[in-house]
Amino acid sequence: MENFIFQNPTKLIFGKGMIAQLAKEIPAGKRVMVTFGGGSVKKNGVYDQVKEALKGFDVTEFWGIEANPKIETLRKAIQLGKEKKVDFLLAVGGGSVLDGTKLISAGLMYEGDAWDLVLKGSYRHTVPLGAVLTLPATGSEMNSGAVISRLETAEKYPFYSNFPVFSVLDPTVTFSLPVYQVACGIADTFVHVMEQYMTTPGQSRLMDRWAEGIFHSLIEIAPEIIERQDNYDKMADFMLCATMGLNGFIALGVKQDWATHMIGHELTALHGLTHGATLAIVLPGLLRTLKEKKRAKLLQYGERIWGITEGSEEDRIEEAIARTEAFFKSLGLPTRLGEAQIGEETIREIERRFTERKVAFGEDQDVTAAVARQVLENCK
Ligand code: NZQ
Ligand code: ZN
Repeated sequence: MENFIFQNPTKLIFGKGMIAQLAKEIPAGKRVMVTFGGGSVKKNGVYDQVKEALKGFDVTEFWGIEANPKIETLRKAIQLGKEKKVDFLLAVGGGSVLDGTKLISAGLMYEGDAWDLVLKGSYRHTVPLGAVLTLPATGSEMNSGAVISRLETAEKYPFYSNFPVFSVLDPTVTFSLPVYQVACGIADTFVHVMEQYMTTPGQSRLMDRWAEGIFHSLIEIAPEIIERQDNYDKMADFMLCATMGLNGFIALGVKQDWATHMIGHELTALHGLTHGATLAIVLPGLLRTLKEKKRAKLLQYGERIWGITEGSEEDRIEEAIARTEAFFKSLGLPTRLGEAQIGEETIREIERRFTERKVAFGEDQDVTAAVARQVLENCK
């Protein structure tokens, strides 16, 4: 096990009706800017609950943080926040609203253009931020990460600021999710766990078992929550899987990969494909490409997650990858580039970008532009 320092300061407020607790969490007298996406919260009653809970606060609303939040939109929010002298942010929505608001929280404390901060990669001088999460997937509600896009240049990069001070997770607000977003959320959570698990075995028994617990939970609940989205207990489990999948708890002292995500971000940047859908395509291709390197862990994963114990090692590895791809397919997601109408030109462009950026992803920094190309070839 590697050395680590762990601290996760986000207060989780979980359960039915918990949005009403909001006012207790925001210090009195704060000038609050509440940020939203495109309006789903108006249809499912979340907006009314938030408004009711914030009675008595000085509130400014900012609407229109889109999926894969764009710097072009976030600059407007930062400008408005500066004008209103905002000193507390409340993000109400999915990962995109939360991520966008993390950049706003940094941008409010920065004199220059907020895209500088994205290129810098991190900025910890921020206005405090709370969240009401409406979509289980990203873990953004309990981590310090964000992913910000730039429309003008079709770029998408990770950015790190501070953790939300608190996050309210009421599973009933997820009942209105479109099935496609549930599918993408399951795939995203599954791949977050993979990025922290599928490296080398024997680093930590505990991290392995926790990660495997999340895989098993997702596989167990997926058929039902894809069928219908209003089962409280199942959606509650899904929500907690997503949070625990990317809040640092399963990453203690172990190596992490993240190459699938970095390749997936390019597919979103170039084609607008939903984040979880990119991962369902890239992960199987990545595992096929790196199966020698990840051999021992793939065998453990095959046996413990999919019960694969028969056949040669080669057969068991192939079967483990095939079962993973079939799982994504069972969610109704595409698992090959062709199914998403993505062709050779995109592969060339990603290789070009990665060569220019001199990337080296993966747990051993050996997923270079050339390896990423092989991964994409194996996603055809
Ligand atoms: O904008 P509104 O109208 O709210 O609609 C949203 C949006 O269209 C809708 N939605 C959200 N909650 C809903 C709902 N519709 C009905 N009922 C509800 N309860 O769903 C659509 C997608 O929302 P979005 O926030 O984009 O989805 P998600 O939570 O999957 O976030 C994706 C973004 O997060 C980044 C991704 O790259 C992507 O940009 N990620 C952030 C991470 C992090 N912060 O740690 C890690 C992840 O790996 C990921 O990269
Ligand atoms: Zn993700």
